[in-house]
Amino acid sequence: MDARQLESAMHEALQAAEAASSAEVLEAVRIRYLGRKGLLPGVMKDLKALAPADRAEVGRLANTFKTALADALAARRTALAAPRESGTFDTTLPGQWPRPGLAHPISRVIEDAVAVFARMGFTVAEGPDIETAWHNFEALNTPAHHPSLDAQDTFWLDNGRVLRTQTSPVQVRVMESRQPPVRIVTPGRCYRRDTTDATHSANFHQIEGLYVDTDVSLADLKGTLAFFAHAMMGPSVSVRFRPHFFPFTEPSVECDFSCHVCGGAGCRVCKQSGWIEIAGAGMVDPRVFEKVGYDPERFTGFAFGMGVERIAMIRYGIPDIRLLYENDMRFLAQFG
Ligand code: DAH
Repeated sequence: MDARQLESAMHEALQAAEAASSAEVLEAVRIRYLGRKGLLPGVMKDLKALAPADRAEVGRLANTFKTALADALAARRTALAAPRESGTFDTTLPGQWPRPGLAHPISRVIEDAVAVFARMGFTVAEGPDIETAWHNFEALNTPAHHPSLDAQDTFWLDNGRVLRTQTSPVQVRVMESRQPPVRIVTPGRCYRRDTTDATHSANFHQIEGLYVDTDVSLADLKGTLAFFAHAMMGPSVSVRFRPHFFPFTEPSVECDFSCHVCGGAGCRVCKQSGWIEIAGAGMVDPRVFEKVGYDPERFTGFAFGMGVERIAMIRYGIPDIRLLYENDMRFLAQFG
């Protein structure tokens, strides 16, 4: 057998080893080439008969053949012994664990806030997302021509109802349905025709609060919101009140928390001011009491409405409101 023939026999042998479909077939390949009466021992025996120049070449090739085939046989033997993919269950593979769910940061803020107000005697009341114009605007002393409606341009339905722009209409529903004392908070979704940016979203959440009794004062409002701020954000948060205007409260204030992200030094989240506007609030306007049938001479009350997303953003250092709505697990999984 000359070198060329031996070389092509080697290719055949290696192919046969790789293609062997069972241990038996593989053993047959081994015997055919490496067995006592096999091809390679025969070649070695015949070497002596070759011319010295050919002998060296064929001898070298035969050795290469032997090692290459032994390797191919061993590799195929291992492959055949490995468990088949289908129909075999590999008990050593790591299991697939269902990921435990966790509350969305918005839900967490709502749950925690409700718990804080519950400690002060507030209960939860809820109202519909689709509101009448009466509850959302008119009963809140905001008639159709009122300029503040501009800021609350919203989604109107064909039947004359609106997607509520605020949780304040729940105040009206509660006061229409019961007599004081009333001490409620109402978390829920609100809708405005806002253009989305880092701090605005057309769909957002508020928590409304209402406390009506015979001697409720602005001092009670300040104490309640300051207690809330410290319970939610920790003792280092500062609270400030600024005069403002709302049609349904008189006097009206806006309540700011010092920025939790920068500690008040100024950053992107607080727009460099050190403060974040958290809530609108005030003493319930006597006109609102008249609309719901409460006696304004007997009762006083305070109300507030706060933005849930705002609180979540400063509490968790979230720089963009849109992150809260994208359902990206890489973001949400951080709040476990
Ligand atoms: N509803 C107001 C808003 O969305 C916030 C607000 C202000 C609520 C004063 C109140 C309040 O209850 O008394 O801008």
